[in-house]
Amino acid sequence: MADALGIALVGCGTVGAGVAKLLLSESARLAQRAGRSLELRHVVVQDQHKLRPVELPSSILTKDLNVALHDPHVHVICELMGGTTTAKQVVLESLARGKHVVTANKALLADAGHEIFEAARIADRTVCFEAAVAGGVPIIRALAESLSANQITSIQAILNGTSNFILTAMAERGIRYSQALAEAQQLGFAEADPTLDVDGSDAAHKLAILAQIAFGVTAKPHEIERVGIEQIEAIDIRFATELGYTIKLLAEAWVAGGHVALHVAPVMVRKTDMLAQVRGSFNAIQLVGDVVGETLFQGPGAGMMPTASSVVADLIDLAVGRAQRTFDVAKLWSKEGRGFSVEPSEKVRSRFYLRLMVMDQPGSLADVCRALAEQGISISSLVQHEAPEGNSQAVPLVIMTHYAETGKFRAAVKVIDRLPAIQQPAVSYSVDD
Ligand code: HSE
Repeated sequence: MADALGIALVGCGTVGAGVAKLLLSESARLAQRAGRSLELRHVVVQDQHKLRPVELPSSILTKDLNVALHDPHVHVICELMGGTTTAKQVVLESLARGKHVVTANKALLADAGHEIFEAARIADRTVCFEAAVAGGVPIIRALAESLSANQITSIQAILNGTSNFILTAMAERGIRYSQALAEAQQLGFAEADPTLDVDGSDAAHKLAILAQIAFGVTAKPHEIERVGIEQIEAIDIRFATELGYTIKLLAEAWVAGGHVALHVAPVMVRKTDMLAQVRGSFNAIQLVGDVVGETLFQGPGAGMMPTASSVVADLIDLAVGRAQRTFDVAKLWSKEGRGFSVEPSEKVRSRFYLRLMVMDQPGSLADVCRALAEQGISISSLVQHEAPEGNSQAVPLVIMTHYAETGKFRAAVKVIDRLPAIQQPAVSYSVDD
């Protein structure tokens, strides 16, 4: 058997502990898959005495990153600390020291992918990041390797387990948003700062990474429009159910000509659709390729052992030498684009759900319909329940539109929000049909 692959972990939180656990408990199986043993030589942590979910020999715990960087028997540094400042230094120093890097850090790649991958090319080392998108779902390999004969034409994905857990709990158990978020945090899915989960940022980081592989585009943060789930109201979840839909936070990429539109937003998905069946903290990625057609990848998108599964798969690929070959040809985050540019979502065509709180009085509905008609938007269905106590109060009016351009729909909503009969800003979601 060839020499062992020497590994150092930097960070031993939920993911790091899972990786250490797997490396220590399944060493024989992993050695067989890798053709050589995977040797955990160092675990770099801030506090050596902290209680962790994995028992580690004290000899491998250190506070000093240099111990790992200067060990000639360490071939790979796993950056599992999160954050974008120190983590970036760790990755760049590791590459400069001739180590391969495995990272689960989607924010870092989305922010600094170009710098990191250029540094790796200069150092002739490889950066692997299967765990950065969708936890245990092998979507990076699927895109970079298994579907490499395709041009991807659309991506629709549930990429944040915390949000999906919250939306599932609100829809199925009728619990409040804050309670569902607290449960997700207790279960260990949520980011250290859960705002990133619920405001769409975490999903946007992951979408940026998928878009890099699928289209060769480096999307700047502001080029991915994002709307989170914090504002979703129980009334819209109830209307969605009544209409046969469920609300999911989707990260989407739509291609038209040489343009790709990227956005993250709550979307109404038909209850019978595959994405609607993805519950709890699970992630799913629906890809359409011009050769293969529609595919769906689904699995645990967060959590200790699913994420460890992906990190260790990267280690095995490095041990075998596969990862280095893929890295060389993929030319990720390089200047070599593939002719796509990122465009705003204004031209994307969709159906829309529009909920208004309107005064139940003559002409209200006519005004709303006129605003839509002026943008060429046709109504597909309309629901208004009678006000419980006469017609002196605002009632919810729900409109489903036929397909329309996003920009035109937004223009109509601007006009509608200014109508005298409208009592609250309109709530709208695109509808996936
Ligand atoms: N916080 C993320 C999620 C998991 O809830 O999906 C790691 O990316």
